[in-house]
Amino acid sequence: MKEVKIESTLFVFENLEELPKDVAFLMQKAIEARGKAYAPYSNFNVGAAILLDNGEIITGSNQENASYPSGLCAERTAIYYAGSQFPAAKIVRMAISATSATKPTTSPIPPCGACRQAIAEYEIKQETPIEIYFMGETGAITKSASLANLLPLIFDKSVL
Ligand code: THU
Repeated sequence: MKEVKIESTLFVFENLEELPKDVAFLMQKAIEARGKAYAPYSNFNVGAAILLDNGEIITGSNQENASYPSGLCAERTAIYYAGSQFPAAKIVRMAISATSATKPTTSPIPPCGACRQAIAEYEIKQETPIEIYFMGETGAITKSASLANLLPLIFDKSVL
């Protein structure tokens, strides 16, 4: 038996002002997208904004359904749209912001596991890292320089 240690490095920015200007711009797009969420069941609004290497910005928000599992997270709404509209483009980064109607979200809210798996697929496909920035409604922003940092022991095509 041996112990295996897995480490990830993340970066935390205190607020939007501390972000590089272009990243703050993308986060602002995620914040705007958050306002377009359809989340009558959870009252938890999430927005995602993706910058592609062709300069396009794609946004998405969570879309819920009375049949709960039929809903989709903001990140996957955005990334599947990006993948279907611009299949040849590479994703440079994704910004995510979440807000709850029931309690303040002042610390960074990371993407769920299913979204990490979906983003990882594109990171592996394009063979370049996708930067992920995530925050709550206000406050600090966490940066991961690559999706891989957020999903150790990834299940990918290499095992198929
Ligand atoms: N949600 C997202 O949009 N992204 C995530 O990464 C986590 C959760 C949505 C799904 C659902 O509409 C609501 O937030 C509560 O889980």
